[in-house]
Amino acid sequence: MLKLTVLASGTGSNFVAIYNAIQNQELDAELKLVLSNNSQSGALAFARSHNINAIHLSSKTVINPEDFEDSMLRCFSDSEIDFIALAGYMKILPAKIVRTYRNRITNIHPALLPHFGGAGMFGIHVHEAVIQSGAKISGATVHLVDEIYDHGAIVMQKTVAVHNDDTPETLAKRVLEIEHEIYPKALQLFAENRVVVENNRMKIIPPIQN
Ligand code: GRF
Repeated sequence: MLKLTVLASGTGSNFVAIYNAIQNQELDAELKLVLSNNSQSGALAFARSHNINAIHLSSKTVINPEDFEDSMLRCFSDSEIDFIALAGYMKILPAKIVRTYRNRITNIHPALLPHFGGAGMFGIHVHEAVIQSGAKISGATVHLVDEIYDHGAIVMQKTVAVHNDDTPETLAKRVLEIEHEIYPKALQLFAENRVVVENNRMKIIPPIQN
């Protein structure tokens, strides 16, 4: 059972997919905390309306970066979390958080890493770049978070076709649907302790047969 926090800045549809998977008993996790840098985020509103502990924490409201990472660490330890899922969190996670929760932090990216990731590759820009490249497939990637942007070991990926008449918006919509499908599944692998990281490659251990 994961003691989960979800960090989200925007709409929060991936957070809702995670919430639904827990409700449907497809994901063995307890949602301990939702944290957002954006007081107006859909994720915070959804959490509050569903009685989930929700905190707005922004680096803009603290004076120095150390205060910020310490505040975040305190939120996590107060909520007794042991796993962090980034779901559209638009900020770099402080280094101390990455160190403290190493191999226990995931992110979802709306393309097939290691392509179309890194600086500037967020939101609609990702899908613009995919279409511009002429790639015939795109997809979504769940990966571990390390110190380098969009770089940690890949946990799960799924592809979608890029259609001739796709716009960045139509492609984004199709990719988002598979994000909602794979993120809870990827988290369930951690809940079942079925992941081992070796040399930045993630091995998935087969499920135990009864
Ligand atoms: C998703 O496309 C995700 O891949 C990216 O940010 C977006 C968040 O969407 N990291 P939502 O807030 O979960 O709807």
